[in-house]
Amino acid sequence: MRAIRIALTKGRLEKRCVELFEAIGFDCSQLINKGRRLILPMNAHEVVLAKAQDVITYVEHGACDLGIVGKDTIVEADSGVYELLDLGFGKCRFALAGPCGVDFYAGYHERVVASKYPAVAKHFFEQKGMDVRIIKIEGSVELAPLLGLAHAIVDIVETGSTLRENGLEVIEEIMPISARVIVNKASMKLRRAEIEGLLSDLALAAQVN
Ligand code: PRP
Repeated sequence: MRAIRIALTKGRLEKRCVELFEAIGFDCSQLINKGRRLILPMNAHEVVLAKAQDVITYVEHGACDLGIVGKDTIVEADSGVYELLDLGFGKCRFALAGPCGVDFYAGYHERVVASKYPAVAKHFFEQKGMDVRIIKIEGSVELAPLLGLAHAIVDIVETGSTLRENGLEVIEEIMPISARVIVNKASMKLRRAEIEGLLSDLALAAQVN
């Protein structure tokens, strides 16, 4: 049987994931000194580093058994994976934000909202019964209202500095976000004992970290 394969999200969550695995006694030296390698051994397991959306895709299709990814990407992807553990780091929130002092809800004109997370934005306004045009943006969404493309944005807010430094403010909080462990459904059936062992080690370490 192949090694348990774990997909980790490159970037912001990467360092915290390494600390977590070190805390459960795994040897992360290959992961830390990875160079340009994409698959790294970690004890008897294999670690893959990928973009957040791809972590979900690899786990959903069973190419990886387990993954660590932000709740933001999970909600947006609406995939068929088990979400089994909240690791409590990578904390931020989804929020509706717009130019300071402007009442987003005033008036009857069509509203345009830019977001990297169109599904989240769509769902948010559907729940309010509001008909809003959503425009997908790939990064630095804060630019959209500044350039007159949109009235507001639905985006992640962590420290709030990006909003502050660009004359924007939170209009409404949407949902808290943190890093989650996801598991492939078939892997959970076929390799239950191994995966549950790993999950309980991770849960313990996450409480302490
Ligand atoms: C995220 C998010 C905000 C920023 C929020 O972007 O989209 O722009 O972080 O963080 P803050 O509240 O601490 O300022 P990211 O840095 O991931 O880059 P991107 O916009 O290019 O996707």
